[in-house]
Amino acid sequence: MCEERKNHSHNTVRIGPIEFDVPIVQAALSGYSDLPMRRLARRYGAVYTLNEVVLDKVVIQKGRKRSQILSVTDDDHPVGGQLMGSNPEQFGPAAYEMAQAGYDVIDINFGCPVKKVLGRCRGGFLLSQPTAALDIVRRVFDAVQETHPVTVKMRRGMDDSAESERNFFEILDGAFAIGVSAVTVHGRTVAQRYIGASQWTFLSKVKQHVGDKVILGSGDLFSAEACMRMIQETGVDGVTVARGCIGNPWVFQQIRDLLAGREPASPTLSEQHHAILCHWRYAIECHGEAAAVRKTRTHAIKYASHHPEPIRVRDAFVGARNAADFQAVLDAWYSSSGYSSSNDRVGEETVR
Ligand SMILES: Cc1cc2nc3c(=O)[nH]c(=O)nc-3n(C[C@H](O)[C@H](O)[C@H](O)COP(=O)(O)O)c2cc1C
Repeated sequence: MCEERKNHSHNTVRIGPIEFDVPIVQAALSGYSDLPMRRLARRYGAVYTLNEVVLDKVVIQKGRKRSQILSVTDDDHPVGGQLMGSNPEQFGPAAYEMAQAGYDVIDINFGCPVKKVLGRCRGGFLLSQPTAALDIVRRVFDAVQETHPVTVKMRRGMDDSAESERNFFEILDGAFAIGVSAVTVHGRTVAQRYIGASQWTFLSKVKQHVGDKVILGSGDLFSAEACMRMIQETGVDGVTVARGCIGNPWVFQQIRDLLAGREPASPTLSEQHHAILCHWRYAIECHGEAAAVRKTRTHAIKYASHHPEPIRVRDAFVGARNAADFQAVLDAWYSSSGYSSSNDRVGEETVR
């Protein structure tokens, strides 16, 4: 028997002029959150999505990567563009370019824990340098403030030391004083990378500290129930789903269901087929067939976990080397779902 669920009241969330009816965001995910993934997330209920992090210098220097980053499509809104770098002087011009290109929000990355990134004084490294970090926030803010909201993404510090926590709050308070519209906090330290849990009690502390300023929470959001729990336990204004939405765009609808007091449903095989097919077609449209195989495979491996034969389907996707292989996996494992991959009309189906 279905458990009776309470309708959870929640406030709308604002990031500058953008208002969200429900506080569920698709996080920035390097190597994943490209246009196809963002389209799927939005289609299944995410209110706001972020592009993967990009280097300020890549946005400024002419090149193929730059034009790809600066191509924002009409159906991809609201979308956040996230910048990372080490030279404060480059951030302003890069933020301006991204705003002009059509990103709705400019987000600054003070969280990336990758060794090479830290070695180049970028990302999470800046959590140990409050003056430089706030110089960056100020420059980005000055460059786009008239037209665009600015946000910051932070881990809870470099490490567990008291100095690290002091630096965190100096940057947090300084960023809000400059005028940022929201801060996303991932409850792990940079030193922790992904080992161990995200400390949600830290998120409660941050939210209590900032009062009515907008805090989005991040870390260990692997299910709709976890997202609800984070909102209820920590008081954050919204959640940014990261690893938990790779190959799982349904999580956004499921959070909506929980918020509305409905029982969340798992995707049927037919819904799985449709989502992967949409993702695949979008990837071909965005990246061309060869790159689409490589890029969609990383998502398909995760989509496979919803299939009744998860290991065999995952292995089949891993072995797909070209478009024909990929299509064959879909036909072999999902065709009984009632979707015909040859005549499916991507984008015209309604979501559950
Ligand atoms: C593969 C991968 C790529 C990521 N890329 C970014 C990124 O580009 N920008 C960013 O701010 N965070 C990035 N993150 C961090 C996530 O947005 C999120 O904060 C983190 O994964 C914690 O959430 P989770 O435990 O629910 O996955 C990335 C995480 C992973 C696993």
